[in-house]
Amino acid sequence: MLTRRQLIKAGAATGVLAAASGAGATALARGSGGGVAEEAFAVPLKRARVLRPLGGGRGRHGAGYDVYRLSARETDVSVFPGTTTRMRLFNGELAPVIRATRGRPVVIEQTNALGVPFSMHLHGGHVPARHDGHPDNEVLPGGSRVFNYPNEQRAATMWLHDHSHHAHAENVYLGTVAGYLLTDAFEERLPLPKGQYDVPLYLRDAKFAGDGSLVYDMDGFMDRPTVLVNGRPRPYFEVAARKYRIRLTNTSNERAFLLRLGEGDEMTHIATDGGLLPAPVSARVLEIWPAERQEVVIDFSRYPVGSQVVLSNAIAFPGELPEVMRFDVVRTAHDPSAVPDRLRPVPDLGTPTVERTFVMSFDAATGQHLINGKPFDPERVDMRPRLGTTEVWTVRNTDTQFGIPHSLHTHLEHFQVLDRDGAAPAPGEAGLKDTVTVMPGKSVRFKLRFTDYTGKFMYHCHLLGHMTMGMMGQMEVVD
Ligand code: C2O
Ligand code: CU
Ligand code: CU
Repeated sequence: MLTRRQLIKAGAATGVLAAASGAGATALARGSGGGVAEEAFAVPLKRARVLRPLGGGRGRHGAGYDVYRLSARETDVSVFPGTTTRMRLFNGELAPVIRATRGRPVVIEQTNALGVPFSMHLHGGHVPARHDGHPDNEVLPGGSRVFNYPNEQRAATMWLHDHSHHAHAENVYLGTVAGYLLTDAFEERLPLPKGQYDVPLYLRDAKFAGDGSLVYDMDGFMDRPTVLVNGRPRPYFEVAARKYRIRLTNTSNERAFLLRLGEGDEMTHIATDGGLLPAPVSARVLEIWPAERQEVVIDFSRYPVGSQVVLSNAIAFPGELPEVMRFDVVRTAHDPSAVPDRLRPVPDLGTPTVERTFVMSFDAATGQHLINGKPFDPERVDMRPRLGTTEVWTVRNTDTQFGIPHSLHTHLEHFQVLDRDGAAPAPGEAGLKDTVTVMPGKSVRFKLRFTDYTGKFMYHCHLLGHMTMGMMGQMEVVD
């Protein structure tokens, strides 16, 4: 079995591994490394703030558009009472949220008030290449850039984060993340919980020093014992005894969560990266890897008022607190919402005519993470898919020696998982996705169709340390 050090060296990044290699060992000090003392459920959840547009106008198709400003800057916030933490945040806020509607474009003026280059990316967005946050389009310190998001795609829970060439992993770790919730008429017609009962939650891990400062160490992914939900450490959330739509986004650099509600109580899985699933799926655990989104409806009416229900991580590293947050059922409420038996069929992505393989591997000699044996090279275009073509991509993780999981995230297009090692995907993976994780020795096949934008787009492992160490490629979509 690998030692902890070897795992760290290998850049392995998963609770699955640690849980498998030493589950139950609670010997490690909690909040290890002299960090802040951790107490679960000491602070209330902070609801992510929905930004108001600064203004708007008329778009190309006559429909209106909304304008926002997002400035990435260093800000002191209080994560633990009595301490301050310097973070890099959009507008000085922890995960502010933009709510957008299909057919109504959003224009964002992004200014970079950081001391490092910045390149904003809408993860899950179907946007023209020049608005995609390609590392070529970095905004230098003091600069700004206007991003245009057409919002001509299906309703989905997306998020904004940095994609600069060298600083992205640290910028994301230090907090430059925003939510982007796109809705559309189809979804609006469904009787799912809405308004205050539709709650985005941004989950991540972190390491804090005793003075409250955030500690970033690219290889330190197994030593980030604090879990933050919307920037608050393991908060409690007061809910009504009714159904809620909970939109989870994992903004961690490397951590995976296997979420469990109460004693394994039922959650209804309704959506993933690319929006609603074809049908709801009853789930007792919910796996969420970095950059993925999983949405569930939780019915708190089964619990009497006064109940406290804990959401925990079944694959916390040995010695960590498993608790993620707690739902406190404090009142009753009228509930006209329902989860229909059918949600949204996957669109027909066509018949594939091109096949490609992506072998994900770690090179112990150089410490680099490779796709098809190569580290990322900004000067190299790895492939040129054609507009109008459907392709099948096979992603193979060959890192059995070090036991390193990898993911593949595609910019530009969502995809449909065809199989995992030849077996049909689980029903919770039957919707559109943009990020899939593949365990060592395993493979996944998915299909995607290049529809309307040409130009250069990235694809990469979304374990950000791996991406920094080369696990990224670029495609140029051609007409
Ligand atoms: Cu979350 Cu290249 O993206
Ligand atoms: Cu992306
Ligand atoms: Cu990886």
